[in-house]
Amino acid sequence: MISKNRPVYLVTGGAGFIGSNFIKYLFARYGDDVSVINFDLLTYAGNLDNLKDCEDRPGYKFVKGDIASSEDVGRLFGEGRIDFVVNFAAESHVDRSIIDSSPFIRTNIAGTQALLDYSRNHGVKKFLQVSTDEVYGSLDGGGLFTEDTPLAPNSPYSASKASADMLARAAFKTYGSPVIITRCSNNYGPYQFPEKLIPLMIANIIKRKKLPVYGRGENVRDWLYVSDHCEAIDAALRLGSPGEVYNIGGNNEFKNIEIVNLIISIMASKGYPGGRDLIEFVQDRPGHDLRYAIDASKIRRELGFEPKVDFERGIAMTVDWYLNNQQWLMNIISGEYSRYYDELYLPKYKNAAQAKK
Ligand code: NAD
Ligand code: DAU
Repeated sequence: MISKNRPVYLVTGGAGFIGSNFIKYLFARYGDDVSVINFDLLTYAGNLDNLKDCEDRPGYKFVKGDIASSEDVGRLFGEGRIDFVVNFAAESHVDRSIIDSSPFIRTNIAGTQALLDYSRNHGVKKFLQVSTDEVYGSLDGGGLFTEDTPLAPNSPYSASKASADMLARAAFKTYGSPVIITRCSNNYGPYQFPEKLIPLMIANIIKRKKLPVYGRGENVRDWLYVSDHCEAIDAALRLGSPGEVYNIGGNNEFKNIEIVNLIISIMASKGYPGGRDLIEFVQDRPGHDLRYAIDASKIRRELGFEPKVDFERGIAMTVDWYLNNQQWLMNIISGEYSRYYDELYLPKYKNAAQAKK
């Protein structure tokens, strides 16, 4: 039940990877002093199994709905007070946006605007737009992304996220809405959907499937353990100034091939040897950004946030989590996901085989 006396958080996309970790984080940090409404459409990426341990919390409520539906969002806001909105809900996978951008345009752009409008009309105290470092484009010539780096998105996914950032900015400038934007680097950790690099590699080693590395595996990402991202968002909500953007990053740059090799070694030490033979260099992602790296000095300086989990510990905890939760993984892999997987990867393998001839 949602209590009038506790601050009420609306967490959109709370059944996804980071959203579900964030809801657990809120309860771990504030106990039953907070109420949380998880508003999620339950797309392929939404999974209520992620939140089984929250279901009996007095302050937890799940509402199925679409952020891009004015009717759904209007009904939700009509039900009672909402103090904080944290907008995680999004189509989040670059490769899917290349196959079909339409759900990205709808959810990430129209959905964000609907939430901004209702939040303004219902006196929300803070609205946090969860954005991404991908809006800055690619660091081909070195350096780091700062909050002042011009936006230059390169995929339909990142262009839709950049559009949402612009709408969030406009809500602050035009109406004075208390909007904060955070832009985070690549997350990893428990409950990440296995279409993403790290869980995909772990799942494929378990199943002894090929490990598809795009291009030569030279692209660089800056990895952050998901609980650190949750803590940074909490800090931004509590201490951040409306109208501001805060970059969040891990200072953890790795080439993809280094990540894949590391996962292979950890998996071998856990009884899953032979991963190296499974590596397959495949056709690159179109428009593949070469390197992301975050300058996170503003959030450290102004809000006192610093990541706690170093990469060595984080990746070991992540591998352990997937090995201990194989049923969770297999439930996903055996369903609709396998159709998507074949659609994306079979042509890549075919092209790689032809190129070898
Ligand atoms: P995810 O794909 O795991 O989860 C997205 C969730 O949103 C799912 O539960 C899905 O059901 C829900 N959703 C999708 N469309 C919806 C709609 N129209 N209405 C309501 N709910 C809807 O994504 P994630 O990796 O947890 O990312 C969460 C947010 O963080 C996204 O906004 C993403 O852009 C951002 N982000 C992600 C990362 C990362 O590395 N994963 C890094 C930086 C920022
Ligand atoms: O940087 C933040 C972004 O990180 C978020 O905004 C996105 O929501 C999130 O999906 C993630 O985007 P990436 O495209 O960086 O993540 P992904 O896990 O898809 O890919 C990571 C890198 O690994 C990228 O360079 C592409 C490469 N890759 C990915 C897959 C799925 C492969 O080489 N093989 C693969 O099969």
